[in-house]
Amino acid sequence: SWTTGNVIEEQVALIREQVGDKRAICGLSGGVDSAVAAALVARAIGDQLTCVYVDHGLMRKGETEQVEKDFVAATGVKLVVVDAEERFLTALKGVSDPEEKRKIIGREFIRVFEQAQAEIIADEGPAVEFLVQGTLYPDVVESGGGTGTANIKSHHNVGGLPEDLEFQLVEPLRKLFKDEVRMVGQELGLPEEIVQRQPFPGPGLGIRIVGEVTKDRLDLLREADAIAREELTAAGLDREIWQCPVVLLADVRSVGVQGDGRTYGHPIVLRPVSSEDAMTADWSRLPYEVLGKISTRITNEVRDVNRVVLDVTSKPPGTIEWE
Ligand code: XMP
Repeated sequence: SWTTGNVIEEQVALIREQVGDKRAICGLSGGVDSAVAAALVARAIGDQLTCVYVDHGLMRKGETEQVEKDFVAATGVKLVVVDAEERFLTALKGVSDPEEKRKIIGREFIRVFEQAQAEIIADEGPAVEFLVQGTLYPDVVESGGGTGTANIKSHHNVGGLPEDLEFQLVEPLRKLFKDEVRMVGQELGLPEEIVQRQPFPGPGLGIRIVGEVTKDRLDLLREADAIAREELTAAGLDREIWQCPVVLLADVRSVGVQGDGRTYGHPIVLRPVSSEDAMTADWSRLPYEVLGKISTRITNEVRDVNRVVLDVTSKPPGTIEWE
């Protein structure tokens, strides 16, 4: 019968058999799938696995620390964190076009990841022959069911890997659906914040700043986003909402008044949506009190933001993200 215990036991045995005494690498994105895949492989082969986390500086508040501290504490995994914030910000300088941003972030990500990978391969120890991927059952079906090496759908995951991949893949989640992956993650003792995390785009906050991405704007958006998440969680709405992008309209200013002064600040957009699979979505009818609280807090606590607006567009015609 299907139990998370059985799944874990079976996968641990399979992974041990597949990897043998060689080494494996796994990229962590902060998301559920890569975290659970890595945790499973770590349980199977321990020190033979090295995880790589590229900190591109575009994560939300606390997310990098979650991986560095809580994930490592829960799994004992060997983790290499690459602090690449400056590199990404430099590459993104002066860029406002969404697809251009995605391209740059994806490109830099692969470069940084490959460099970290090369350093790990150069370490003493058994050959690195395996790459761990958090491929789920729906991804397998979508890409025609193939397994092996090069058959990775690069879709729009920032973790999309180059074509000339010479690793064998370890994909311990290939038979699982998302909710099952969360159950396995929970059983493996992963932090709740990681296991229950809502979808978050690979390019991160880079595509939630309409306009140029700067450190200053990222810090501001991180504060606003943290407030929105905190209040949604406090109101018990996390399960109801598919995700809630918080967007900074960095190129827009509007007039406001605060204290005795006139302000000329930026708007923050709240984009809470309900969805089954992100292909279509509806705007979430959030309680007014929750919206009010988020609005009051953001305008009081986040400098340079003097207006909070609500996106009431379904998908189609609007996409979930603004970029
Ligand atoms: P859209 O905005 O197209 O988003 O309605 C659909 C889902 O995909 C996520 N998304 C991305 N995920 N890289 C990702 O890994 C991306 O470039 C990207 N763009 C959108 C979005 O958050 C939503 O869940």
